[in-house]
Amino acid sequence: MTASAAIETVALEDRGLAVTWADGARFTFHPVWLRERAPSEETLDARTGQRKLEAAFLPRDLAVTEARREDEGAVAVGFSDGAAVRFDGRALRAALAPREQVDLVGVKQLWDGALGGFPCYDLAELKQGAPLLGLLDDLARLGCVLIEGVPPEKNGILEFMGLIGNIKLTNWGGVEDVKVDADAFDLTLTNRGLEPHVDNPYRFSTIGYVVLHCLANSFEGGESTIVDGFAVAERLRREDPEAFEALATTPVYFRYQDETTMLENLRSLIGLDSAGRVERVAWSNRTEFVDARPAAELERYYAARARFAELLYADAMTVTFKLQPGQAFILDNYRVLHGRRPFELAGGGNRHMRQGYFDRDMVSSRQKVLRRQYGG
Ligand SMILES: [Fe+2]
Repeated sequence: MTASAAIETVALEDRGLAVTWADGARFTFHPVWLRERAPSEETLDARTGQRKLEAAFLPRDLAVTEARREDEGAVAVGFSDGAAVRFDGRALRAALAPREQVDLVGVKQLWDGALGGFPCYDLAELKQGAPLLGLLDDLARLGCVLIEGVPPEKNGILEFMGLIGNIKLTNWGGVEDVKVDADAFDLTLTNRGLEPHVDNPYRFSTIGYVVLHCLANSFEGGESTIVDGFAVAERLRREDPEAFEALATTPVYFRYQDETTMLENLRSLIGLDSAGRVERVAWSNRTEFVDARPAAELERYYAARARFAELLYADAMTVTFKLQPGQAFILDNYRVLHGRRPFELAGGGNRHMRQGYFDRDMVSSRQKVLRRQYGG
């Protein structure tokens, strides 16, 4: 056992349990915190780990009345309500680590156009399990990963998506076509270029991950453009903190509507977590309609938005590549923007993509289960 996990002494303190570890760390655990996670059948269900006991109904003056170090890895604790429980020292020590990542696990590497390209995995190899964890770790790090060896047929992408989990169903269904449609309900279904954007910020539960699969891409043009929204947001924060602040605090309205659907959402273009870190970028010029606000406020907003757009659209921030039939990419729709260059409908070519979505937690769940299995 490492020094950090070896219990040296235990003592009663402030109705709770004071533990000192061999490396000098010391912490006093609250009696209710200990009692409500006691590894006993009356408190936690053995199979699911879910809690059976309601801490709200424990005596308000609950106290630890007895504590005995059994060995360096365990402590026996008695409570004033009669419960007697043995705690694992490793679990107690692990509980002191700050809990920050509930999403995909991994340090993000921010990038710009100099990155040049993204890691690529072969579908046949991903079926082994461990490489799939590699893909998800790269997805956490860079926000975009390529897959090859995906059958360029109608639902050829489902095998890959099934390795991760269930796809997200939307008002359009599951995996849907992205190709030129004379009756386009969305500008995606035309041959115009698409500016960098995230998909569907108008959904109250925004798309977590986008998967785009190429069946044909033989027209001139039609390259994919990928931008790290977090890198751009951090650059804006450094270079123009007032603009960053305006985009992080101005609520913006996103909307999609057709005959049977009305989707709307209100959020800022840059979303921050409680520690002020960039958590989400929402950029979709086609569906954004900022509310009428006082002119001075909008002046500030539009100036900030213009600076943000300049950076998002800059070639220096963009990685460009042309998907080939049998290739696909998966990207983090909270972080990475995607777009495409225009293409010419001439010369008897064809451009046919299919796309599907995942909810956020489906992907992080698969990564965590694989980490449990393969370590990491
Ligand atoms: Fe899109």
